[in-house]
Amino acid sequence: MKAMRATKAVKTIKVITILGTRPEIIKLSPLLPLLDAEFDHSTIHTGQHYDYNLDQVFFKELNLRAPNYPLEVGSHPQGKQTALMLERIEQVLLDEKPDLAIVLGDTNTTLAGSLAAAKLHLPLMHIESGCRSFNRRMPEEINRIIADHLATYLIAPDEKAAANLSREGLPVEKIFMLGSTAFDAVARNKQWASGKAVAPLGLEKGEYVLVTIHRTENTENLEILGETFSALNKLSGKTKLVFSLHPRTKKIMEKHNLKLNKNITVIEPQPYLTFLALLQDCRFCMSDSGGIQEEALACNVPCLILRNETEWMRIVDAGKNILVGTAAAGITSSATQLLENKDYLEKIKNIQYDYDGGATKRIYHLIKGILA
Ligand code: UD1
Ligand code: UDP
Repeated sequence: MKAMRATKAVKTIKVITILGTRPEIIKLSPLLPLLDAEFDHSTIHTGQHYDYNLDQVFFKELNLRAPNYPLEVGSHPQGKQTALMLERIEQVLLDEKPDLAIVLGDTNTTLAGSLAAAKLHLPLMHIESGCRSFNRRMPEEINRIIADHLATYLIAPDEKAAANLSREGLPVEKIFMLGSTAFDAVARNKQWASGKAVAPLGLEKGEYVLVTIHRTENTENLEILGETFSALNKLSGKTKLVFSLHPRTKKIMEKHNLKLNKNITVIEPQPYLTFLALLQDCRFCMSDSGGIQEEALACNVPCLILRNETEWMRIVDAGKNILVGTAAAGITSSATQLLENKDYLEKIKNIQYDYDGGATKRIYHLIKGILA
């Protein structure tokens, strides 16, 4: 494992950020440059995501420097992947002895980073803390609960998340409700995204539906995936569908020879700016992604959530996103309503929602305060 230091350390306070997947890179992208400018800041990249279009493309287009510690763990079953990360992160933390370690979200990278830091008694900050689906069959639910119970500083994105932490007995003085950095990533990049995708794909603004599906529980359960695909095939007779295909879903489709209708436009995972452009200009989106539920809100596009529960209930309760489940009939009827009833679509778009931009700055100031 090779350390690449981008800047010579002149500062004495050491901060380490641990990341490794697409959403972590995107949501941390507004914070990383601030930490670089202020501290002796290093990044550990576990290598959980490693395909160019799930990883390096974001460093390139979001102007992020290369990680200091590329651990190159790659894809493995849950236990082995976490164990390899844990072993390698621990070594870096032992060498670096940071004053603060930072993780975000609910991935195996988040879990391994949290465990490694906590076992070495290092102060640990968990960003996007307190989110709960209350579904322990999701690997993410297990990861986020453990990370929260190990962390020293819990950065909750909204009141619901903060309340979940209190309910689990976590001390109130550890909980900071500062908002979600996903909104800052959108705000920072929206201006460059505009117009990037629609024309190259032969699409018209407002005339297509954007789709992503990648969650383990939606893809590895072939009955559920079959229901979703059946809904998409049916809807493809009514509207243009653009489906950004995650490698997990692609591999399952190939393995089981699952097909989508030919008139569904299936595309590779897109760079962030292109994806944001697709999101801004679609009629609505259908997704099981966590990050996309927040980004859809920031773009004022309804998201039909292809799950039975979500960590982002605050947005659903406000009426901006809709939890539609995984049965073909429910998905088809909700989507058809949004396709055929323009007033209904407009009513959702006109609901006012304050999504608390500026979380990144608040987190940055908190870190400065802690380490001063
Ligand atoms: C992971 C996170 C999930 C997050 C998602 C973001 C966990 C438990 N899950 O899910 O919370 O929403 O990232 O996209 O941490 N693969 C590739 N190329 C890559 C990476 C993965 O082909 O660069 C394939 C491999 O076959 C791999 C599969 O995708 O086995 C799943 O990857 P993995 O990182 O284990 O889980 P994700 O589904 O990506
Ligand atoms: N995203 C992207 N290109 C795509 C699909 C998604 O850049 O083709 C971005 C999306 O804008 C969001 C993030 O990836 O910022 C969400 O990642 P994902 O859905 O993989 O994970 P989750 O948020 O569910 O953990």
